Amino acid sequence: MSAALPPLSARYAGRRVLVTGARGFLGRAVCDRLTAEGAEVWAPSRAALDLLDRAATKAALAEARPEIVVHCAVDGGGLGWMAAHPIESGLHNTLMNAHIIEAAEACGATRFIGAGSACAYPRLCPVPFTEDHLWDGYPEPTNGPYAQSKRTLIDLCAAYWAQRRFFAVTPLLANLYGPGDHLDPGRAHVVSALLQRVVSLPPEAPLTVWGSGRPTREFIYIDDAVEGLLRCADLDEPTTINIGTGEEHSIAALAEAVCAAADHRGGITFDPTKPDGQPRKCLSAEKAATLLGWRAQVGLAEGLRRTVAWYRAARAA
Ligand SMILES: NC(=O)c1ccc[n+]([C@@H]2O[C@H](COP(=O)([O-])OP(=O)(O)OC[C@H]3O[C@@H](n4cnc5c(N)ncnc54)[C@H](OP(=O)(O)O)[C@@H]3O)[C@@H](O)[C@H]2O)c1
Repeated sequence: MSAALPPLSARYAGRRVLVTGARGFLGRAVCDRLTAEGAEVWAPSRAALDLLDRAATKAALAEARPEIVVHCAVDGGGLGWMAAHPIESGLHNTLMNAHIIEAAEACGATRFIGAGSACAYPRLCPVPFTEDHLWDGYPEPTNGPYAQSKRTLIDLCAAYWAQRRFFAVTPLLANLYGPGDHLDPGRAHVVSALLQRVVSLPPEAPLTVWGSGRPTREFIYIDDAVEGLLRCADLDEPTTINIGTGEEHSIAALAEAVCAAADHRGGITFDPTKPDGQPRKCLSAEKAATLLGWRAQVGLAEGLRRTVAWYRAARAA
C-alpha cells in the first residue's frame, strides 16, 4: 500500500456509517475495521432492517440519517446455492440493491459503497479482467441472475451520479477468504470448503477436488478486501473499479496451497465428472492502484496460513 495514502480514519472517524449485512462474512469485517477507525457504526440485523421492504428501508434511513452507507447485504451462498436459487439470487438482490441506494440518497448520505462481485464480468473475458470489458457479454450462467443484480446496482450508481450527483460506487470484489468465512457446507465458498475437508482428512488420504483443477480463480484476503472497499469512498468520482489481487491461481494450485498451509501430505486427486464452471477468472488490480494508490498486501500462502490457524482454533473452541 502507498505510504502517501491518508489513513482510513480521515474519511470515517466520527462519521455515522450504516453497514448492511453486518452479520455476514464481509459485513462483520467491515464493522470491525470501521470501529477501529473511530466510526460510529450502525449495524442493524436483517430482522431490524429488512432490505426487501422498500418503505421500511426508506423510513429507517430517514430516521437514522447515516452519512455513509456500506452495503454488504446479499441473499446468497456458494455457487451451488446460486445455481439452485436463481429466483432469490436475482429477484431479492435486485430489490435489496435498489431499495438501499434509493434510501441512502434520500436520507442525505454523502457516500454509498455497495459490494460488487467479479461475477458481474462476462463468462469469457480477456484475463486479467479490466473494467472496460465489464459489459462485453453475459456472465457465467450458473450465477447469471445474481450477476445481473450486481450489474443493475452498478448501473444505478452511475445513474445516481449522473442525475443527482450522489456519490455511489459498486467496487467489484474477487472471491473472499480468511478468518470468519462461512463454515456451513451449504454456504461455504471454495477456499473454506477445501480447507475444512483437508483439516478433517486422515494424514495419508488424498484431497479430492471437483473438476479438472484447470480453471483459474483469484482470492483476496478479507482484510485486504475491506481496506480496498472502504478506500473507494476516496475516489474523486464514482467509477467501475476492481478490488482484487491481480493474481490468478488454478484450482489445482489452490488445492496444493491449502494442503501446504494445513501441512497435509496425502496428495490431491481430481473428480472430472464434476463441472469446472467459468474457465478463467482474475481481476486486473491496476485501476485501483492508479486511482486509489492501493494494492492487496496479503499473499495467498500467508492468507491461507492465517485462515488455517483461525479454523483450527475455532474447531478446538
Ligand atoms: N464472499 C465472497 O467470496 C464474495 C465475493 C465477491 C463479492 N462478495 C460480495 O460481498 C458482499 C457480502 O458477501 P458475504 O459473503 O459477506 O455475504 P454473507 O456472509 O452471506 O452475508 C450476507 C448478509 O446479508 C444479510 N441479508 C440477507 N438478506 C437480507 C435482507 N433481506 N435484509 C437485510 N439483510 C439481509 C444476511 O443476514 P442474515 O445473516 O440474517 O441472513 C447476512 O448478514 C455481497 O454483496 C457479495 O456479493 C462476496
